[in-house]
Amino acid sequence: MTLLASTPAPGTTWLGWAFVVAVALVLGLLIAGPALRRRYPVAWWLVLGFPFACVRVSRTWRPLMAGCGLAVSRKAALIVVSGLVGKGAPPPQPRVPWRSFIRPTPGGFWFLVRLLPGQVPESFVKAAPAMAESWQVHAVRVTPYRPGVVRITASAADPLKEPRIPKQRGPGHLLRVVVGAVETGAPWVVDLRRVPHWLIVGATRSGKSTLINALVAGLAPQPVALVGIDCKGGMELSLYGPRLSRWPPTAGRR
Ligand SMILES: Nc1ncnc2c1ncn2[C@@H]1O[C@H](COP(=O)(O)OP(=O)(O)O)[C@@H](O)[C@H]1O
Ligand SMILES: [Mg+2]
Repeated sequence: MTLLASTPAPGTTWLGWAFVVAVALVLGLLIAGPALRRRYPVAWWLVLGFPFACVRVSRTWRPLMAGCGLAVSRKAALIVVSGLVGKGAPPPQPRVPWRSFIRPTPGGFWFLVRLLPGQVPESFVKAAPAMAESWQVHAVRVTPYRPGVVRITASAADPLKEPRIPKQRGPGHLLRVVVGAVETGAPWVVDLRRVPHWLIVGATRSGKSTLINALVAGLAPQPVALVGIDCKGGMELSLYGPRLSRWPPTAGRR
């Protein structure tokens, strides 16, 4: 009898082990979490950050749209009819814009929103800071996708805090260069076959030279002719002189 009483039921053993494994996992995450997050930020975001962000977006979508004035009240007649036949049931909720599934990016997420009649993309642009606050993300960007639809893109963290530049492995595709990362963490690709003409403008120290450097460094291993015209007398491009096929400051001497 004593032996029987001390033998745990099979279900109890299984639950006990599950509990131990869960506790070990949580403890492991608490101890190694910060290091794992630094080393594998994209995997960390996709496994832990993104699911929580999806829940936050789903839970706050309706109140957020209502709070930002982007929900449209139902017709008064519908509310009256609903009150008459609904026998005390709450009146119909205001209509909120439809949104698509939330898709992850390496450092955030995006989804599409269909505007309700009478709405314009600018109203959603104005609501972007409120969205960022509600979803606890660094920034939200709203861009027109097609008529009547906007794309909402969120960056989970400030990409400039710990910049991680995606590496281009090997020479890559011809005339295609990874020059940096965009705010979502995705690679910023300059593909000169798709967009062959670029005009890079900006204030002093806005990153023009850095972009040109990344472009030249990415194109250098490729079988392409590079012609440098340096209006600063060689200050910008002299470093690349040996690689340039044509470079006016030295053209006469070659
Ligand atoms: N995308 C970027 N993110 C962070 N820092 C940058 C970026 N681009 C440039 N910088 C830094 O900004 C500074 C100015 O860049 P630079 O390319 O010389 O600007 P410009 O040629 O427009 O005057 C440099 O110190 C550079 O390292
Ligand atoms: Mg410069």
